[in-house]
Order: sequence, then structure tokens, then C-alpha cells
Amino acid sequence: MSNRGKFSGRVGFILAATGSAIGLSNIWRFPYLAGQNGGAVFLIIYLACVFLFCFPVMVGEIAIGRAAGTDAYGAYTKLGGKKWGLLGIFGVISGIFILSYYNVVAGWAFGYFVELTFGPLLQESDFGSFFSSFVNDINSNFFYSLGFLFLTALAVVRGIQKGIETANKILMPSLFVILIGLILYSLTLPNAKEGIRFYLVPDFSEIKLQTVFDALRLAFFTLSLGIGGLITYGSYVQKSENIIYSASVVTWADTIVAFLAGLMVFPLVFSAGQSPAEGPALVFMVMPEIFQQMGPTIGKIVGASFFLLLCFAALPSCISLLELPVAYFVDQKKYPRKYVVWILSLVIFLLGLPSLASFGAIPALNKLWFYKQRDFLTLVADITDITLTIGGCLMCIFISYRWKLHNMNAELAIGNESFRGSLMQKYIDFTIRWACPLLLGVLSVLIIIDKFWGFNF
Ligand code: TRP
Repeated sequence: MSNRGKFSGRVGFILAATGSAIGLSNIWRFPYLAGQNGGAVFLIIYLACVFLFCFPVMVGEIAIGRAAGTDAYGAYTKLGGKKWGLLGIFGVISGIFILSYYNVVAGWAFGYFVELTFGPLLQESDFGSFFSSFVNDINSNFFYSLGFLFLTALAVVRGIQKGIETANKILMPSLFVILIGLILYSLTLPNAKEGIRFYLVPDFSEIKLQTVFDALRLAFFTLSLGIGGLITYGSYVQKSENIIYSASVVTWADTIVAFLAGLMVFPLVFSAGQSPAEGPALVFMVMPEIFQQMGPTIGKIVGASFFLLLCFAALPSCISLLELPVAYFVDQKKYPRKYVVWILSLVIFLLGLPSLASFGAIPALNKLWFYKQRDFLTLVADITDITLTIGGCLMCIFISYRWKLHNMNAELAIGNESFRGSLMQKYIDFTIRWACPLLLGVLSVLIIIDKFWGFNF
């Protein structure tokens, strides 16, 4: 057990878990969902979801990991028996599938960075059709996503401290610096105020039930919950650490970065006279147009920084997604980390090929007949979104009815003496026992209905 590695201390774990949390969803999905759902209203609902419901789940997940000191499958088996181990396997498989498509999107960001910095991307006249032909170009995307996964594997293969921790120690502060730089620049633009007003002054007429569920789904995904990613990272946390404290820092940091991403995007969007409600097109079609309007030199600098930021956000997330299945094979099967990392990366890359080819290269994958003519990547993303919330729901049930709340609380009190009997303890107990499983159960059913039958709330 001793040679599986540990984070060097509090900072190492917090940075790695924050890196896992901050990802494409903060820089891309959060701003576009906020843009489509009335800006400030979405922000408020999102904050409520994060702190009221997701934070306790995060605490519970890390506690399982540290208590068991092993991978997701091993942890459920150790604390709950073989049958519960299936929940761990379910998480490991979900992680593999999430990474398979997530890495493709990260590859696009990497590709945009390369083509904007070294190629004539900013001279395009129509970014919509540029994006279509870019994602359609399977040859270059093959290398972009292979390159990205290679970088991920390079970090994971070096182990917890030398690889994962070191990568995060470099990437997280750099991400922060680029983000702050971009915000300062965007606030100097004409019309920046309009963007800020849209983002920060709520318009409550925009609230729909759908907004609440979109926010909850996003909050759950962005904090990397539900499939055992944090069980895995939690298993490398030292017993002297205060889990509640670390989880709060991670939750805050993730939320602040999502908030800052909005603060960067909306002034840019409004100053360029674009619509904030462009949806998923925001990053790859609208942003390049905004950079183009800045003129060749500034556009290149700001644009390159933006896509670099996206890559720096995506890489630590990919690292955590890869570590989840890697830990399973290293801890359970005792295979050497080196082989596990390279073989799994190859398998995940191959599993991602249909997603990679689903934007024109293979027409049948672009319009799936059994999935409302949507593309294959969206299918994988939607299915894994559901496995995430189902996984989270079952995890809460596991804690309350199998492992038991008092055992979780005993784990949480290690490194945090004042936790026992505190208000925080009562709150976490209540949410994990009642609020979270109920809410996540309902959410899973609603996502299934929405995705497969197109029910709009
Ligand atoms: N949180 C990351 C993002 O916001 C994605 C991610 C990384 C993730 N690891 C995860 C999602 C584990 C679910 C589970 O982009």
C-alpha cells in the first residue's frame, strides 16, 4: 500500500482537485449557459446548487477515498462489500468514456491555439464554416487529440507527486494569471459595462425549471463528482488533512474561476456587438470573430492566450479522468503504472475516434438515426452526464445506508476535531441522507426524459 503514492500535503491535494474541477465546463459551458439563461439569474442558481448540494457530495466522496485508501472499486468493496464494488466499476467505466470525448474537445482547443498562433486562422471570413471544416478534418484532429492525450499520460505516468502534483503546480497558477490578464484587457473595451450589467444584474423573468436543472447538472460535472474521481484523489490524501477545509477551497476556487470566465467573456461579447446567447458556438465561432475585430497583433495575442487558457483548464481535468481508471488497474490488478497508463491511453484514444469522426468524417455518426439526428460525441456526453448523476445519487445512498453516516463523520473528524456535533456536520448528514439522493435521482430521470424524448420544462 505504501508505494501507491500520496500528495505531498494540503496544497498538493487542493491544487490537483481544483485542477480536476476547473475545466472546459468552467471556461466554455458556464459562460454559454449563463448567456442563454439570463446571465445573473443563472449565476445565483448555480451558486446555490454548488454550495447547498454539491459541496456535501464532494466531502462525502473524498471521505470515502481517504477512509479506504484505495481506488474507486476497491473503496466501495472495502467499505461496503463486493456488490457495492460494482458502483466503483460503473465510475471507472464512466471516467473512461468521459475522457474519450472530453479529450476530443480539448484537442479542438489545442488545435485552435496552434492554428491561431502559427497559422492564418484569424484571416478567415466565416468562423462558422471554419469550425465546421476544422472539426471535419479528421487528419489534423487525430494529431491534436493524440497530442493532448499524450501530455495527459505523461503527467499521470510519473505518479502522484512527481507527475500529477507538479503538472498542477505549473498549470493552475498560469491559468489564473492568463485569466486575470484577459479580464483586465476585456474590461478596458468599449461597451464592457453592458456585458457586466447583463452578467451581474439579474432578470428574474428568465427563470425556468430547466434553468435550475441545467445549473445543477453543470455544478455536478464541474466539481468532478459522482464517478469516483475524488475517491481516487482522496485516497492519496494524508490523514492529518482537514477534508472539509480542502473541499471548501476547491469548491470556492472552481466557482471563482467560472465566475471570472464570465467576467472575461461577456465584456468581449458585448463590445464586439455579439449575442451572449450563442450557446456552444460561443468558444469556437464567436470568440475568434471577436479576436479578429481586435486587429492582427492584439487579436493574435489575446486569442492565443484565450485558447491556451482553455488548454490549461482541460489538461488537469484529463489527468484526473485518466488517474481514475489507472488507479483501479494499479491497485486491484497490481499492474505496473507505466504499462497501465500507456495501454489505457491508447484504448481511450481509440474509443474517442467515433466522437472525433462524428462531425462529418463519417456521416452516419454525425446524424444518429436512433438519437434524434444528433452526433455521436453528444450521445457519449449525454449518457455520461446521466451516469454521473446516477453515480452521485447511489454514492449518497451508499454513505447513508451501507457505510453509515457515523463512519463518514469519524473520517471527517480526523484532522478536524471540531467537526463532531457542529452545524456543518448536521448539514452534511441531512443533505447526504435526504436532499442529494432525492434531487440527483429526480435530475437523472429528468435528463433521460429530456434527452431521449425532448421534454422541455
Ligand atoms: N470538472 C471537469 C470540467 O469541469 C471535468 C472532469 C474532470 C470531470 N474530472 C471529472 C467530470 C470527473 C466528472 C468526473 O471540465
